[in-house]
Amino acid sequence: MKIIVIGATGRVGKQVVSKLAENKSDQVLAGARKPESIEKGSNIKPFKIDLHDTKDNILKALPEADALIFTAGSGGKDLLQVDLNGAVKVMIEAAKRGIDRFVMLSSKDSLTPDSFSGDNPSPLANYLISKHFADLWLIKNTTLDYTILQPTALTETPGSG
Ligand SMILES: NC(=O)c1ccc[n+]([C@@H]2O[C@H](COP(=O)([O-])OP(=O)(O)OC[C@H]3O[C@@H](n4cnc5c(N)ncnc54)[C@H](OP(=O)(O)O)[C@@H]3O)[C@@H](O)[C@H]2O)c1
Repeated sequence: MKIIVIGATGRVGKQVVSKLAENKSDQVLAGARKPESIEKGSNIKPFKIDLHDTKDNILKALPEADALIFTAGSGGKDLLQVDLNGAVKVMIEAAKRGIDRFVMLSSKDSLTPDSFSGDNPSPLANYLISKHFADLWLIKNTTLDYTILQPTALTETPGSG
């Protein structure tokens, strides 16, 4: 299987690339702004992608693949361009490229708008709003076969099983 990872240099993305690459029958297409910093491996193929780019350039950047895992994010610094519009552009262009399985790394509460509205909104409200509308786009405006992951804060300690 050919699997694209967007955000392949991130804390989550790096681990996803590494884990996927353990299966030598899979090819991992690792997308990042600095592809030179991606882990080397016989079945890891880095490619350059910037979520600020136009839709046409994002389409050109995306290789053919069976599935795409979106793990990119701006860390709160560039929410509209990266977490919302960047994600939506990737959904639209992935579909054009014939990639029909899409895994979105979203967040706890992304689909419960009451947590980011009202008198006492979440401190992550603006981030959650970006994730909310990106997730809704995926659900309502695409025909992609999607999975939306909604983790709480992730840690970097070994998994407990
Ligand atoms: N970490 C958590 O606790 C947590 C919890 C719940 C949900 N999440 C979700 O998971 C996502 C990833 O988390 P993380 O901790 O792995 O984040 P991270 O370490 O900050 O990684 C973010 C990734 O996004 C990429 N990126 C940022 N701007 C980009 C752009 N314009 N074009 C292309 N790539 C761009 C970064 O690439 P560069 O190396 O080029 O900057 C990096 O690879 C978060 O954004 C969030 O939506 C995280």
